[in-house]
Amino acid sequence: MNRDGAAPASIDDVMTLLAERRYIGDRPLATSIYLSLQLGKPLFIEGEAGVGKTEAAKVMADVLGARLIRLQCYEGIDLAHAVYEWNYPRQLLHIRLLHETSDRSAAEKQIYSPEFLLRRPLLDAIDNHDPVPPVLLIDEIDRSDEEFEAFLLEVLSDFQISIPELGTITAQKPPFVVITSNRTREVHDALKRRCLYHWIDYPSLDKEIAIVRARAPEAAEGLAREVAQLVQNLREMELYKVPGVAETLDWARSLAALGATSLDPQLVDATLGAALKYQEDLIKARETLPELVARSRGGGGSTPLAPAGQSPSPGAPPRSGGGG
Ligand SMILES: Nc1ncnc2c1ncn2[C@@H]1O[C@H](COP(=O)(O)OP(=O)(O)OP(=O)(O)O)[C@@H](O)[C@H]1O
Ligand SMILES: [Mg+2]
Repeated sequence: MNRDGAAPASIDDVMTLLAERRYIGDRPLATSIYLSLQLGKPLFIEGEAGVGKTEAAKVMADVLGARLIRLQCYEGIDLAHAVYEWNYPRQLLHIRLLHETSDRSAAEKQIYSPEFLLRRPLLDAIDNHDPVPPVLLIDEIDRSDEEFEAFLLEVLSDFQISIPELGTITAQKPPFVVITSNRTREVHDALKRRCLYHWIDYPSLDKEIAIVRARAPEAAEGLAREVAQLVQNLREMELYKVPGVAETLDWARSLAALGATSLDPQLVDATLGAALKYQEDLIKARETLPELVARSRGGGGSTPLAPAGQSPSPGAPPRSGGGG
C-alpha cells in the first residue's frame, strides 16, 4: 500500500531529517525507515531498554509532519482499550431521554452510531482523515499477550476493522506503523513477517557521546565524553540491569546540574541512581568506583572490571547485534 504523505526522497534524506531533530541514527536505521515508507510496510524495532526505539517513531512522525498515535501495550490489553468501546453511560442517558418520545428500534439505531463510539488508537489510526497519514506507534508489543498479537496481525494485513453494529472500516490512507519490542518474550514470526525488522543495539562510544551532546547540551563536552565512557564500562560489568541511553542522558544531566564539568568519584557516587536501578548493581559498581571513574576519565575501556555479562535478567534472550 502506498502512502500519500511527503516521504523522504532517499536514505540520505532520512539521515539528514533525523539529525535535524537531534536523533542520532545510523545508516542501517535510516535504510529501514526509508524502505518501510517506500514499501508501505510496518517497521518492527527491537532492542534493549532505552536505546531509542520509541523516540525513533516520535521523530518519524515529526519528519513526516504526521500525527503520532501511540498504543502502549501492557499485559491484558484488550480490544476495548486498543480499538473501540461503546460509550455505555452516554448510551444509557440517551435512551432515558428518548424513552417517552421515540420507539425502541429507532433508539437502538441511534445509540449505535459513531457519536457513541469511543475511538481507541487502532481505530483512530485506521479511520483517519488526516492530510498526511498518521504514524501509529504500537509500543512494547512484547508486553501484550498472544491473542492480542494475533488480532494485530489481522489489522496490519488489511488495515481494516469491523464493528458489528457499524460495518467494516477500511483505511483510506494506511498509517505508517512502527512496532517496538524490548524482547522480554519473542514476538510471533507471523507478525514479524509482515514487517521490516530492525535491531537497535547499545550505541558505540562515539554514537553515545553524540547523543549526549545532542540531547543533554547542558553537559560540557568533556563531561559528555566521560559519562558516555563510564556507561560503556558499566555495560561490560555483570549487572542485573545495565544502563540504556536514557540513563546516560539522565546521568549527564544530573552531573551537569550539580556543576560537574568532568567526572569526580564523589559526584558519580551521589548520582549513581541515575544509571543503576537495582540495589545489587549499586553495590557492585560502588565496589570498584574509583577505578571505574579513573578508567572513564582516561577515556579507556580496556579490560572489563568483571567478566562480561550476557543476560541481565534471568531467562531473557541473548543480546545480539546488527541492524536490518
Ligand atoms: N539515537 C538517539 N538519538 C537521540 N536520542 C536518543 C537516541 N537513543 C535514545 N535517545 C534518547 O534516550 C531516551 C530513551 O529513548 P526511548 O524512550 O526511545 O528508548 P526505548 O528504546 O523506547 O526504551 P524502552 O524500551 O525503555 O521504552 C530518550 O530520551 C531519547 O531521546
Ligand atoms: Mg520505548
